[in-house]
Amino acid sequence: MPAIIVVGAQWGDEGKGKATDQLGTKVDYVVKFNGGNNAGHTVVVNGEKFALHLLPAGILTPNCTPVIGNGVVVDPQVLFAEIEDLTARGIDTSKLRISPNAHIITDYNRKMDAANERMLGKNKIGTTGRGIGPTYADKMDRIGIRVQDLFDPPTLRQKTEAALARKNPILERFTGQTCDPAESAEELLSFADRLRPMLMNTTAELNHALDCGKTVVFEAGQAVMLDIDHGTYPFVTSSSCSAAGACTGSGVGPRRIDRVVGVSKAYLTRVGEGPFPTELTDGEGDWLREAGREYGVTTGRPRRCGWYDAVVARYATMVNSLTDMVITKLDVLTGKDRIPVCTAYEADGKRMEDMPALQSEMHRVRPVYEYLPGWEEDISGCRNFTDLPRNAQNYILALEELSGCRISAVGVGPEREQTIVRTPLV
Ligand code: GDP
Ligand code: IMO
Ligand code: MG
Repeated sequence: MPAIIVVGAQWGDEGKGKATDQLGTKVDYVVKFNGGNNAGHTVVVNGEKFALHLLPAGILTPNCTPVIGNGVVVDPQVLFAEIEDLTARGIDTSKLRISPNAHIITDYNRKMDAANERMLGKNKIGTTGRGIGPTYADKMDRIGIRVQDLFDPPTLRQKTEAALARKNPILERFTGQTCDPAESAEELLSFADRLRPMLMNTTAELNHALDCGKTVVFEAGQAVMLDIDHGTYPFVTSSSCSAAGACTGSGVGPRRIDRVVGVSKAYLTRVGEGPFPTELTDGEGDWLREAGREYGVTTGRPRRCGWYDAVVARYATMVNSLTDMVITKLDVLTGKDRIPVCTAYEADGKRMEDMPALQSEMHRVRPVYEYLPGWEEDISGCRNFTDLPRNAQNYILALEELSGCRISAVGVGPEREQTIVRTPLV
């Protein structure tokens, strides 16, 4: 029965939130499996805008159970604030369940994020500053604090002590401040009572749900090009954002997955530092940023903008074994007489159809463009593929051909219903 993974097929902010929300009422569970409140998903329902960070966008779907899987890093204060905000707006959050194995973002790891960026100086990553990297580093270093540790005060106190013995000298040097292990532990313990009712053996629950024929959607934060293994390292986030991460981040095995949906803009954006071959640093980039309202949901930073990159699209198709692609924001391109699409890279006279294996090459490549004819008509009201102007249809068909993946839906505006469905996803 359907287990569907939704992943970002570019550098994030492709419209994953809208894509999962749009799967609608047929979904029984929505699972966040990676990342934390570095994510920012905007969903617009009947003109009302919701900005979600730690919670999966599926929380807006009535009767759906939202799950925070073991692969997520949780900042409890952010979690409670988001729950309160949604509750005040009439959204039922009472079904939210959290894996006891998810890791906790501590106060000292938020500070370590800032210290690390300061240490890197001009080589900084441009993180969201939410403590994501240091929390995953502690997880791998086996000194992390898990949700279940908040229910074992003596062990928790030992853990903050051990972690801060290492971190305080760095914090002192790069921020001039240290953290008191006892205070950090007490703050964490103060979250326990509110978290207790949300705990669940999410691995067992999700596997049993699939046994019973329920529909489970795994909603990624970030994207393949920000994946710790498959992205433009070190300019990446610290989690497994690709489809494989849905399995490790939830405890559902790969043979149970039915579909993998990649979400991609009809052009490209990136926030933070790192290579971006089709980036536009001129007036065209400013035009895209204004037309697409490309400002980060989490940090408010202007997004770097560029043309659609089919090398990235083919890579996303391959690494995630995509069955479907959703193209968002086609409406933003309306009014351009011709639209460049990057079909390959070029460096040192050599043409590359695939992602370069070496990071140094990725920094040097230049995009090879093909120019596709644009359209003038307002497409925001189109609901069928054939309603689109011929050149808009051809643009989508060209992206399908270049990416090697079926395009199942096309976004023509931010609202839930502003989507053209070619092949239903559920
Ligand atoms: P996510 O992080 O992948 O969920 O994406 P974000 O929410 O950070 O960024 C996507 C932005 O594009 C949001 O502001 C959405 O409301 C908006 N959006 C999504 N799909 C469309 C679309 O088809 N057209 C337009 N104009 N906006 C869209
Ligand atoms: P959604 O889920 C876009 C970027 C940051 C930075 C790098 C590392 O909304 O698509 P981190 O704080 O994770 O250590 O930052 O990753 N980044 C994102 N960019 N969308 C996101 O999430 C992102 N989450 C992290 O800008 O370059
Ligand atoms: Mg986003």
